Amino acid sequence: MSTPEAALYENSFFVEGGNFDTAGSVSSQIKALLKHMRLPNDVVRRAALVTYESEINIVSYADHGRIYLKVTSDYVMIEAIDKGQGIADIELAMQEGYSTATDKIREMGFGAGMGLCNIRNFSDFFRITSDVGKGTHLKMVIKIDKLFDGI
Ligand SMILES: Nc1ncnc2c1ncn2[C@@H]1O[C@H](COP(=O)(O)OP(=O)(O)O)[C@@H](O)[C@H]1O
Ligand SMILES: [Mg+2]
Repeated sequence: MSTPEAALYENSFFVEGGNFDTAGSVSSQIKALLKHMRLPNDVVRRAALVTYESEINIVSYADHGRIYLKVTSDYVMIEAIDKGQGIADIELAMQEGYSTATDKIREMGFGAGMGLCNIRNFSDFFRITSDVGKGTHLKMVIKIDKLFDGI
């Protein structure tokens, strides 16, 4: 018998700031991994979305970062930890439509200002901390609902 907290899978992935050629590759990998583990579609979709938005934010606004993935029988946990400019006003950054994206970023189709609020909405647990001039730390948990007890 495994304890509920025992990790079934753990890994971490490097994200390079400013490189839009590879942007989205970490979330694609994580999505494929979770699908392969046969997690419920809804869990895979939500985990992929929060990872994608976190990854794009690291590429757009940080120097570099790392995305940590942990899967247990009860939840998927994703942490995005970057080194970079950080966020001075988190409450403002969380608002729908607020964005400091440059024209270059907008031309590529990013910068709608919905990333952080979508991350919060799609996570069962979400925490963001940031140090200006140092970096930003996002933690997201997506619960895996069990349809039947004892299976
Ligand atoms: N990892 C990060 N490092 C620094 N600033 C960030 C980071 N993530 C988000 N931000 C800031 O928060 C704002 C809102 O982010 P988000 O909701 O994802 O919208 P968007 O990326 O479309 O601007 C960004 O425009 C940026 O100013
Ligand atoms: Mg964003």
